[in-house]
Amino acid sequence: MNQSSGFNIMYRLNSSAQLMIVSDLDYTMVDHDDPENLALLKFNALWEAYYRHDSLLVFSTGRSPTIYKQLRKEKPILTPDITVLSVGTEIMYGESMVQDHEWEQYLDKKWNRNIVTEETAKFPELTLQPETEQRPHKVSFYVEKVQASKIMKALTECLEKRGLDVKITYSGSIALDVLPKGAGKGQALSYLLKKFQYYGKPPANTLVCGDSGNDAELFSVPDVYGVMVSNAQEELLQWHAENAGSNPNIIRASERCAAGIVQAIGNFGLGPNISPRDISDLPASKEQTFNPGLEVVKFYLFYERWKRAEVQKSELSLQKLRSVFYPPGIFIHPSGFEQHLNQYIDGLGASYGNKQGTNFRVWLDRVSLAQIGVDAWLVKFDKWELSGDTRERCLTTVLLSSKVEVPDGFRWMHVHQTWLDGSGKREQISE
Ligand code: GLC
Ligand code: MG
Repeated sequence: MNQSSGFNIMYRLNSSAQLMIVSDLDYTMVDHDDPENLALLKFNALWEAYYRHDSLLVFSTGRSPTIYKQLRKEKPILTPDITVLSVGTEIMYGESMVQDHEWEQYLDKKWNRNIVTEETAKFPELTLQPETEQRPHKVSFYVEKVQASKIMKALTECLEKRGLDVKITYSGSIALDVLPKGAGKGQALSYLLKKFQYYGKPPANTLVCGDSGNDAELFSVPDVYGVMVSNAQEELLQWHAENAGSNPNIIRASERCAAGIVQAIGNFGLGPNISPRDISDLPASKEQTFNPGLEVVKFYLFYERWKRAEVQKSELSLQKLRSVFYPPGIFIHPSGFEQHLNQYIDGLGASYGNKQGTNFRVWLDRVSLAQIGVDAWLVKFDKWELSGDTRERCLTTVLLSSKVEVPDGFRWMHVHQTWLDGSGKREQISE
């Protein structure tokens, strides 16, 4: 196995991932019918509070890198550990999306893009998709549902005669993809699982999540749990009925999109399944063992609700907050401005309801934890704030102490924020 193929993901985890979620994006992780992205934000809070530190998030999408990056600008999706793009023909690792060239070399076998374009041109029923969606190992079209199966069969025969080994998938009752036989979301997942095995760190559990035809293969990978979200397309449900109907490890959720994923986590007993967003008594913690990831997620939820005036404005809740922040501790604002944590809390107190009735949202991404002493933790994360049509990302570092005798058993000692994506520059999310 080639070490240079960017599989540095192994450095992030000490041991096998507790859970590896492999999820499709459009209409699985992302509900395009929910402009508020509520289920997605709930999933995000759950993942960052309980899973990020010892689990793996994999997005497996039909999108090309170009329109995947577009989606990341439009929707509050988390940064995955691994991104599988263009229907399993491109695999990229980490936030910087380091490409797995080994995988793409492997896909060259019995594949010739020119022959595919030549042969498909003979089918007038096929309409070519936009240029961004044409990739080295993926040629994509639109075709009407009534003609799809006939064309898929004829096309496979044609291409076989020309010496190619291809796979044709049909998704969303409209999109037809021609790929090398060894490609596809399922094959890409099997390849990743083999890599984890090779490094001696196979995930303890894997949950695959999908809604349409190109996701079907994910459900036939051995030993995985699977969830078809409630809004799954007919082509996936039909595939399931014909091929996997008796597999108890594959369920159809009664919830849509990301809510269906969370439902499956609970159904299969894969770990915590109550999102901090579904708990109202923030920020008090009743957990037995101190979970710094959960504490930061809960604080920023309180911060969102406070500004949206969704929690009651009471002296009590501010007092509770004050007891959680070490008063002389320092808060460093991204502009470089410093204040004491008690001043920071006073400022927060005064901002009650200043985002009331707006689309204001806050979510954390890439929460990482380092225990730096028996009772001290360094927590680092990206804090995102959406307000109107701009959003802002702050790299944030928090020093938490779990020693002090405060009601919640821990205290924020120091907070330091830095603007990302250019100093102080706000990112426009709509054109
Ligand atoms: C995504 C891709 C498209 C593909 C479809 C189904 O929408 O952009 O090219 O055909 O997924 O796999
Ligand atoms: Mg989908």
